[in-house]
Amino acid sequence: MTSIKTKRLILRPWREEDLEPFAALNADPRVMECFPSTLSHEESDQLAKRMQKKLEERGWGWWAVSMPGVAKFIGFIGLSPLDPATFPVPFAPAVEIGWRLAFEHWGKGYATEGALAALRYGFDTLNLPEIVSFTAVQNKRSRHVMEKLGMHRVPEDDFDNPKLAEGHPLRRHVLYRLKKEEYHA
Ligand SMILES: CC(C)(COP(=O)(O)OP(=O)(O)OC[C@H]1O[C@@H](n2cnc3c(N)ncnc32)[C@H](O)[C@@H]1OP(=O)(O)O)[C@@H](O)C(=O)NCCC(=O)NCCS
Repeated sequence: MTSIKTKRLILRPWREEDLEPFAALNADPRVMECFPSTLSHEESDQLAKRMQKKLEERGWGWWAVSMPGVAKFIGFIGLSPLDPATFPVPFAPAVEIGWRLAFEHWGKGYATEGALAALRYGFDTLNLPEIVSFTAVQNKRSRHVMEKLGMHRVPEDDFDNPKLAEGHPLRRHVLYRLKKEEYHA
């Protein structure tokens, strides 16, 4: 299973001791503002276990993130394949990049630093032709990270999240794309 080091972070497999801070992050309405709801402790544990299982199977995925000497766990950053059978959107199959960090670690450039390392892994190690990212239209912070990564939005790619009911205020999503050639340019 791969771990990735950056200047300040380690993207690594999940540990049992991550479950508690992960549940706190997922219960924080500030972190979950652009998701349909916060998660219960049980839902959060299940999510962490699913992410770890996929990391073990595939070797890459949604990595837990630590800051050596500063914080044992700050959230997750990574890459994940989108399966059109479970997420029926026009751009699937594709590989998605994403992130979720504890509120106290926002505003320090960690999301962008970790995501740049995940992009490098996706293009240079996995040789992916393209990486996408998406979020609710309102999620300005996340969109800003996507833009800093060099990803671009094509408004015609905007879509309704199939997991959210019609009329849900977070249903409309934006899609950002980055092709391998654009990344290397
Ligand atoms: C999305 C999310 C990870 C963004 O976090 P963030 O801290 O705003 O993003 P970054 O890590 O890029 O840091 C941004 C700021 O850190 C500041 N910063 C401080 N020190 C820095 C450093 N050493 N290097 C770079 N930036 C630094 C910068 O000013 C930067 O802001 P700017 O780009 O406007 O100048 C965070 O808001 C989050 O977890 N949200 C909830 C989950 C979510 O919505 N996930 C996405 C769903 S698709």
